[in-house]
Amino acid sequence: MSVAALDINITKISKSRINEVDPANIQFGKVYSDHMLVACYENGAWQQAEIKPYGDLSLSPATTFMHYGQAIFEGIKAYKDPQGNPIIFRPYDNWKRFNRSAERMAMPAVPEELFIDGLRQLIDLDRNWIPTSEDTSLYIRPFMLAVDEFIGVRPAEKFMFIIITSPAGPYYNKPVSIYVHDEYVRAFPGGIGFTKAAGNYGMSMYPTQKVKEMGYDQILWTDGFEHKYVQEIGTMNVFFVLGDKVVTPDIAQDTILEGVTRDSVITLLREKGVTVEERPLSIDEIEAAYKAGQLKEAFGTGTAASIAPIYALTYRDDKMELPPLTEWENANWLKKELADIRYGRKTDTHNWLVRI
Ligand code: COI
Repeated sequence: MSVAALDINITKISKSRINEVDPANIQFGKVYSDHMLVACYENGAWQQAEIKPYGDLSLSPATTFMHYGQAIFEGIKAYKDPQGNPIIFRPYDNWKRFNRSAERMAMPAVPEELFIDGLRQLIDLDRNWIPTSEDTSLYIRPFMLAVDEFIGVRPAEKFMFIIITSPAGPYYNKPVSIYVHDEYVRAFPGGIGFTKAAGNYGMSMYPTQKVKEMGYDQILWTDGFEHKYVQEIGTMNVFFVLGDKVVTPDIAQDTILEGVTRDSVITLLREKGVTVEERPLSIDEIEAAYKAGQLKEAFGTGTAASIAPIYALTYRDDKMELPPLTEWENANWLKKELADIRYGRKTDTHNWLVRI
């Protein structure tokens, strides 16, 4: 496919801001690349997209999403292969998930050519912004906002689809400690837990602030009925190695995000011959495994964090310490395997990589 397949109006910056990036100290979400893609939806159709210099938006204070949170987003990453060619990791899966979120939030679907070709043209233009050192990437943030100038409550009729990108270092630069929450709730069946709706993240700020004050890094969310079944950790899917099996909560209910990294991890582990179980997993089972010396590894997965090891898990008065990271077979192997695929060092047998 040619990167010029989608007709986009392109206005280039007059002078790149790439000097703002310190390659030796790239943090997450601090600096944004030169250009952004913007497309508007009105009168029932997507209008011509444009790529223009990254900059502020001008919107009415009565804009729908500002009041009612009719807003969704995605997270994708681009890397460079050893020859310096850009690679985007599994963007089709993010596009499909974006449209599942859009449907649940009464927003229009974004067509494949707008999402994928738009992304490819944007990355092509800002390819110099993709960092190359290990554990760095270009974080891509597609999002959609409801932009009617109307404060009545009804689905909007006008929307903006935007893609911005940001050179990113590791999201967590050390293993995390987790507090198992049995008070606040992230998602209920019938709710929006399976989407990347902005509100899912906004609502997590207060409980997260509380657990940080208690000295933990993140929350392990549990179900809202019994506070017994684990769901996600912070903004990530979660995996536990119990004995010789890897267990992760299943996505059969609509409370859990269908993570692209989650799917990559399950696929790679199964291909390696590891038993991966997707099923309801209770905190009681995790505690029992810990007491029997069978809680071997625990880690979060997500686009931003990739694989985030958990070094301790606190449930009520019980602090469960995980074995030293050096002894973890699965998480360490996965981190390297995923990096080798994403940086194009290993053959892409799954067709996960999209090249420009
Ligand atoms: C991602 O992993 O891409 C996320 O969505 C997490 C985030 C909100 C930074």
